[in-house]
Amino acid sequence: MNNRLSIAIDGPAAAGKSTVAKIVAEGLEYVYIDTGAMYRALTYKSIMKGADLHSESEVLEILNDTNIQLLPGKSGQIVLLDGQDVSADIRTAQVTNSVSYAAVHPGVRMEMVRRQQQLAANGGVVMDGRDIGTHVLPNAEVKVFLLASVEERAQRRHSENIEKGYPSNLEKLKEEIALRDKIDSEREIAPLKKAQDAVEIDTTSLSIQQVVDRIMKLALERIG
Ligand code: CDP
Ligand code: CDP
Repeated sequence: MNNRLSIAIDGPAAAGKSTVAKIVAEGLEYVYIDTGAMYRALTYKSIMKGADLHSESEVLEILNDTNIQLLPGKSGQIVLLDGQDVSADIRTAQVTNSVSYAAVHPGVRMEMVRRQQQLAANGGVVMDGRDIGTHVLPNAEVKVFLLASVEERAQRRHSENIEKGYPSNLEKLKEEIALRDKIDSEREIAPLKKAQDAVEIDTTSLSIQQVVDRIMKLALERIG
């Protein structure tokens, strides 16, 4: 048996997906793929080009002419958009609060899923997002759905902002996260949803290490 697994990690914003996915990927020497970064890169380029994010044809036309690469970097993943490093540009509040509108379009999702499946074709991947267990990697050997209360998730983003010296308003963050969760969960195509066979982990009162340990245990059980 090929024991280089595919590991799918889904869940709402700031549940801890990318933090734990990165650590698990390092531990197993797998490739980490942040699918949210792909939607963010597309959204950033669409905003820069003045496109209407609510227009599927405009956003899709941009995507079809866009190269997105995810590379491992010393302090996290590097995102190259048409060869340019946009790792920081795609994390601004403007992109964060617009990305769900670009991600709603069926044609955009179909193309993103095609690219993501290509990246995961050889196994040995930890992929995080919203629809990985349900659509991108329905046959993943390990599927995890991370949750945490909206208060805890807003607090996590707030602490990150304070640490970086960015202005931050906890109440506003809570509203923005709740709105993004709502759009992501209510869209018609591939909404944010736990796959039937995913293991749910509520991380509200767990440390990063505790979450990593639980996922590593699931993975090692499958590797045998
Ligand atoms: O890091 P955070 O959880 O805040 O968001 P992200 O993973 O970077 O994803 C940003 C947005 O991209 C999400 O809110 C979704 O609208 C969209 N997304 C998606 O639709 N499907 C995915 N597989 C990943 C992200
Ligand atoms: O990728 P996602 O949006 O789901 O979350 P993230 O970008 O990994 O952010 C989660 C934040 O919560 C990071 O600042 C982590 O240090 C922190 N955190 C966590 O990820 N998991 C815990 N169990 C506790 C805190």
